[in-house]
Amino acid sequence: MILPIVGYGHSILRKPTQDIDNTYPDIKQLIDDMFETMYSAYGVGLAAPQINLPISLLVIDATPFKEKYPEAEGFKIAMINPHIIEESGKEWAFEEGCLSVPGIHEDVMRKSNVTVKFLDSDFNEQTIGLDGVKARVFQHEYDHLQGKVFVDRLSNIRRAFLKRKLNEIVNGSVRVDYKMLRSIKPKHR
Ligand code: NI
Repeated sequence: MILPIVGYGHSILRKPTQDIDNTYPDIKQLIDDMFETMYSAYGVGLAAPQINLPISLLVIDATPFKEKYPEAEGFKIAMINPHIIEESGKEWAFEEGCLSVPGIHEDVMRKSNVTVKFLDSDFNEQTIGLDGVKARVFQHEYDHLQGKVFVDRLSNIRRAFLKRKLNEIVNGSVRVDYKMLRSIKPKHR
């Protein structure tokens, strides 16, 4: 089932999420729905707050980046309760976008390597090391679980420059090709 995606300005995107345990109902169906929602919007990652759920769950499929970053091919994963154990390496710039922040694509600086502990969809504990674009997509989604959006990581000057565009997302005047849950109902559509 394709779910509506929460737009920038909605309070759930600012709320740190809670870890869940294996009593959480229908987790596999939820993960399937998140993948389906992500693919339908041509995204490479989706975090639970973006479908209006305040839980620590994210899905990633970085395959669309494979032309430029061959290692991205087949990097498809669902992570429950991910926690960063270590972040290391040099900071590098990568142009990020977000299904919750349509129409904005900006270079963001993040470290190159990350080690993550998480539960897979069977609630088995896993630890993985990620680098390059795989680390990047994860870091972006992980931010969502902390109540952060990538534009928070831009310089004040850059954010000021984007203010009008961000306000247009908040007030619903930006068109998107997927169903969006907004904090304010669009006036005209
Ligand atoms: Ni995002």
